[in-house]
Amino acid sequence: MKKWWKTLSMAAASLVLASALTGCGVVSSGGEDKSSQAKEDGDKIVVGFSMDTLKEERWQRDKDLFEAKVKELGAEVKTLAANGDDAAQLNQAEQLISEGVDVLVVVPHNAEATAAIVDKAHKEGIKVISYDRLIKNADVDYYVSFDNVRVGEMQAKEIVKQAPTGNYVYIGGADTDNNAHLFREGAMNVLKPLEEKGDIKIVYDQFSKDWKPEEALKNMENALTANKNNIQAVIAANDGTAGGAIQALAAQGLAGRIPVSGQDAELAALQRIVEGTQTMTVYKPIHAIATKAAEIAVAVAKGEKIETDQKIPNGKIDVPSVLLDPIAVTKENVLDTVIKDGFHKLEDVYQNVPKDQWPKQN
Ligand code: GAL
Repeated sequence: MKKWWKTLSMAAASLVLASALTGCGVVSSGGEDKSSQAKEDGDKIVVGFSMDTLKEERWQRDKDLFEAKVKELGAEVKTLAANGDDAAQLNQAEQLISEGVDVLVVVPHNAEATAAIVDKAHKEGIKVISYDRLIKNADVDYYVSFDNVRVGEMQAKEIVKQAPTGNYVYIGGADTDNNAHLFREGAMNVLKPLEEKGDIKIVYDQFSKDWKPEEALKNMENALTANKNNIQAVIAANDGTAGGAIQALAAQGLAGRIPVSGQDAELAALQRIVEGTQTMTVYKPIHAIATKAAEIAVAVAKGEKIETDQKIPNGKIDVPSVLLDPIAVTKENVLDTVIKDGFHKLEDVYQNVPKDQWPKQN
């Protein structure tokens, strides 16, 4: 709980003192005094975790690992997920702020709309950490993610290996998610020079609303129709959209005949990879991002200053950031990456493959 007296006793640097004073005596809900509320709750730090969604497989893992790490660090965590609804995410963040969280960690549904959350939190002296996705045009305190441009580059590079020439389709993620733009930027870094050389042609390039597989399916159907099925490669921004695209390809008897990328190392995608209908995915070790974000959150709540290795512009400021390394996964290295890491089990990934074709685990 936010406690002005606890923070004051710790305050050495003026910066820390300033943030403590902003938090001090601020009444955020129903005229309740935070210091008395704090006494009832003990002096545990409370981290608020505002999530866009738990829909894709990865987010439940993010939630579980983040909560576990915060607890391991001796703090409490309150998580709310907004189901892809901007207004709900703002309300939930306000709720967390009014309940007196000491720091707010946000996975934004909408990169722009969530700037309002940062402003509200800052008014109460609460710092905000952008988790996985960057909040744009706001004074975000820290950003923890993966190198998302690299994710896009990895996707395109792997697909280009399989299809060095021909008609390319780009099935993007949610337009409202800054990451979707970074993944596309990375892919285009690889594809545009090839297009200029005349090796490939990008014949379709669309975002898929809210990362929905059914939107990706529609996009892929449109791409196939517009090009009379003359498509040689598909870059799908994540595994969910890859699933939608592959469904559309399957309906035309093309699944497994056209390379398709993905991202997230979801179980269904890994199964498709070992079965041959998806070419690759990008494995982002969720343990690493959840741990890093939890450590920063708890340290920030204690008033500590965090050293980061880089700064990422968000349209308003350069946000102190930690960007972790993604890993490209194909059929060739699935055993040495996701399975070796315990992200998924061999028997689950190879579930639909005859047992005599399973690779040997050391
Ligand atoms: C992105 C995230 C991806 C994917 C997608 C859909 O922001 O980086 O890993 O999960 O959202 O939720």
